Amino acid sequence: MSQGKQQDVGRFQFQDKVAFITGGASGIGRATALAFAESGATVVIADVQEKEGHETVKMIEALGRPSHFFLCDVSREDHVKAAVQGTVQKFGRLDFAFNNAGIEGVTEPIQNASLENFKRVMDINVQGVWLCMREQVPVMLKQGGGVILNCSSIAGLVGFPSISPYVASKHAVIGLTKSVALDLAKSGIRVNAICPGVIQTPMIERATGHDEKARSAYASAEPVGRLGHPREIASAVMWLCSEGAAFTTGQAIAVDGGWVAQ
Ligand SMILES: NC(=O)c1ccc[n+]([C@@H]2O[C@H](COP(=O)([O-])OP(=O)(O)OC[C@H]3O[C@@H](n4cnc5c(N)ncnc54)[C@H](O)[C@@H]3O)[C@@H](O)[C@H]2O)c1
Repeated sequence: MSQGKQQDVGRFQFQDKVAFITGGASGIGRATALAFAESGATVVIADVQEKEGHETVKMIEALGRPSHFFLCDVSREDHVKAAVQGTVQKFGRLDFAFNNAGIEGVTEPIQNASLENFKRVMDINVQGVWLCMREQVPVMLKQGGGVILNCSSIAGLVGFPSISPYVASKHAVIGLTKSVALDLAKSGIRVNAICPGVIQTPMIERATGHDEKARSAYASAEPVGRLGHPREIASAVMWLCSEGAAFTTGQAIAVDGGWVAQ
């Protein structure tokens, strides 16, 4: 796989479009926010990290596109309502939603696991995605179309040891995606899930304990022999939002260097 092209997200024509991204203060969400801005979209960031969220907004504005940050915990109904309605009040519409915010939770085998961790992972990774879609869909129905992308994982397609709540949550994201895609199939709204492999972001830095050996172990477990770049996920999101993907709905699309092909 080419290294040289790995950060090329392509160019799409998203002028006059408004994109809403949860977890846009970091990693995959930030890379996707910048890719939307490069394609001409207005980009809204919803995240619990205020300082980093505002940094993403500044990066988008430096690309010449309007942007706004909402302090939003996706597990909270009032926050999600305020962020989605605030987006429509400020920018008049909502074309693309990337429900990407998520946490890995604690790594522990089930016999030592806490209910608190299970509930926290589910609240953010599953309830968060569900709440976001519930608020976004009426706006898109009123407009007559839109695209929703939910961030699952290769952990939504296969199991991994010692992170059972995370694996369950990412499988659930795919279930939510399929069900809502069918609800909306005739409405002009497409709903898909993206399943990243191991991507170089702060989440993976936390998982590897910032240790080079652990990072290399992940890279060698990837069939392509390297970690993915957040821009490579952004690239898939751009295509899924484009007219080129007009026949694609209800899918869980792995962008994973071949991981789940093993
Ligand atoms: N990095 C990977 O290898 C990888 C692989 C597969 C899937 N994913 C998924 O990709 C998504 C993004 O992960 P990332 O790697 O960029 O991680 P990250 O930790 O860099 O970014 C996650 C973002 O989500 C935000 N967030 C966390 N809880 C939130 C909440 N309650 N409300 C709003 N925002 C919240 C964080 O503040 C952060 O900005 C996650 O859903 C993750 O599960 C990541």
